[in-house]
Amino acid sequence: GTANIGVVGLAVMGSNLARNLASREGNTVAVFNRSPERTQTLVTEHPEAGFVASEGYDEFVASLAKPRTAIIMVQAGTGTDAVISDLVQRFEPGDIIVDGGNANFHDTIRREADIKPTGIHFVGMGVSGGEEGALNGPSLMPGGAAESYETLGPILQTIAAVAPDGEPCVTHVGTDGAGHFVKMVHNGIEYADMQLIAEAYDLIRQGTGRSPAEIADVFAEWNTGELESYLIEITAEVLRQTDAATGRPLVDVILDEAGAKGTGAWTVQNALDLGVPTSGIAEAVFARSLSSKRGQREAAADLPGPSGEWKVDDADAFIEDVRRALYASKIIAYSQGFDEIVAGAEQFGWDIHKGDIAKIWRAGCIIRARFLNRIADAYAEDPSLVALVVAPYFRDAVAGAQESWRRIAAIAAQAGIPTPAFASSLAYYDGLRAERLPAALIQGQRDYFGAHTYQRVDQPGVFHTLWSGDRSEIETTPSSH
Ligand code: 6PG
Repeated sequence: GTANIGVVGLAVMGSNLARNLASREGNTVAVFNRSPERTQTLVTEHPEAGFVASEGYDEFVASLAKPRTAIIMVQAGTGTDAVISDLVQRFEPGDIIVDGGNANFHDTIRREADIKPTGIHFVGMGVSGGEEGALNGPSLMPGGAAESYETLGPILQTIAAVAPDGEPCVTHVGTDGAGHFVKMVHNGIEYADMQLIAEAYDLIRQGTGRSPAEIADVFAEWNTGELESYLIEITAEVLRQTDAATGRPLVDVILDEAGAKGTGAWTVQNALDLGVPTSGIAEAVFARSLSSKRGQREAAADLPGPSGEWKVDDADAFIEDVRRALYASKIIAYSQGFDEIVAGAEQFGWDIHKGDIAKIWRAGCIIRARFLNRIADAYAEDPSLVALVVAPYFRDAVAGAQESWRRIAAIAAQAGIPTPAFASSLAYYDGLRAERLPAALIQGQRDYFGAHTYQRVDQPGVFHTLWSGDRSEIETTPSSH
C-alpha cells in the first residue's frame, strides 16, 4: 500500500480529519466508509486531497503502507467494536488502530487489553474542536502504548492545532484509556464553562434588562481580557444572532432544554467513583437535566419566588462583579477537573503530565482559552501542585474576585435566579479553605448510630463513644504508642 494513514468512517468528523491529513506535506490518506456513497462524495468533492478510496476492508487494508495506521471516526458505541474487529482480522503485529470517537475510557481499556495479545496497537484518542477543529487543527489526546506514538506522533503533529508558542496540541497522554479519560474530563470542564457563561448571561439579562445583542457586546469585551476563550467568543456570536423568521433574538426562540450526549455525565460518574469533588461540573450536568424536565418545570412554575421586581442600581459595577464571579468559578471548575485527572492517573496507573494537558488544550479544542497558559505555567513551576486554586497566580485571581463572587451568589439567591455553578463553586472554595469543617459532626453522628468510630484532633488512634451506655469513650484500635 501507498497510504501512510487511513480513516474509517467518513461522516463530518471523519471527512474533515481525512482532509486535514491529506492537506499536510508527506501524507497519503486512505479512506473507507461502510456505505460507499459517502466515500464517493468525499473523493469527488476533494480531488486535491489525492485520497486512496476503498470499497471494502480488504482493499482498504491493502492500501495502507506498513506499519499500517488507521483512525476510526465512527459514532462511539457498539459500531466501534465492529469496525475494530474488521481491522484486527486484517492487521498485523505492529500496526496501529486509533479510535478517534468519544469512547468511554473503560471501553478503551477493555479494547486495548483484548487487542494487545495480537501485537496490534490500539490507541484511544480524544479529538476535540468539533467539525472545524477536525478540518483545520484539533486538539488531540492519544493514549495507548508509548511505542505506538513513535509512528503516530509525527503524523498527528502535522494535523493538530498549533498553540501560540508554535507547539502542536498533541501529546502522548498515557497508556490504554488515558487519552479518552482526559478527553472526558475536557468535556466535563466544557460543560462547566458553558453553564457558568449561561448563568452570567442570565444574571446580566435579568439584573440589567440588557438585550441579548447588548450582552453580546459585554462578552466580546470580556473576550479581550483574562476570560478570552473560544466559548466566550461564540457566546457573543450566538447572542447577537437574530431569528430570520420572527425578527427576535435567536436565543429567545431556542427551546430552553439543553441536550447532552453523555460525556459530562461520565466525568461526574467517574469523579464519584474516584471520590473527587467535581461539584462545578456536576452542577453543570444537572442543570442540563433540570432544563429538560418539562413536566416538572410546568408543574412548579407557580411556586413562589422572591416578591418584587429586581433591578440592579449600577449596571456596570454589577457586570464587573459577574465577570469576576465567572473567572473565579472557572478557576474552580478547572481545579476540580485537574484533580480528577490526577485521581484517574493514580487509579489507572497513568503517568499523566498535567502541564502537558494544559498545553494541548491551549488551541484547537472547545475549552481553548488564554487561561490555559496560566495553568501550564502553574504546573511548570510546581509539577506536584496539590490543587490548581492554590497556585500563586490563581490564589491572587480568586482573592481579587471573591468579594464580587460573594455578592453575585447572594444577589442571585435573593433575586431567585438559579446559579448552581456559581454557587457551588463558591461553596467548594469556602469548604476547601475552611479551618474546621462540620465533618466532625458527621463523624459524631456516624459513630452514634453505627459505631463507625472517629479520630481525635489531639491524639492518634481510633475511638468510639458508648452512646447507648455510659457515654464514656473507648479506644477501639489501640494506637502504637
Ligand atoms: C469537543 C466536544 C465534542 C462533544 C460535543 C457535544 O471537544 O469537540 O466536546 O466532542 O461531543 O461538544 O457534547 P454534548 O452533546 O454532550 O453537549
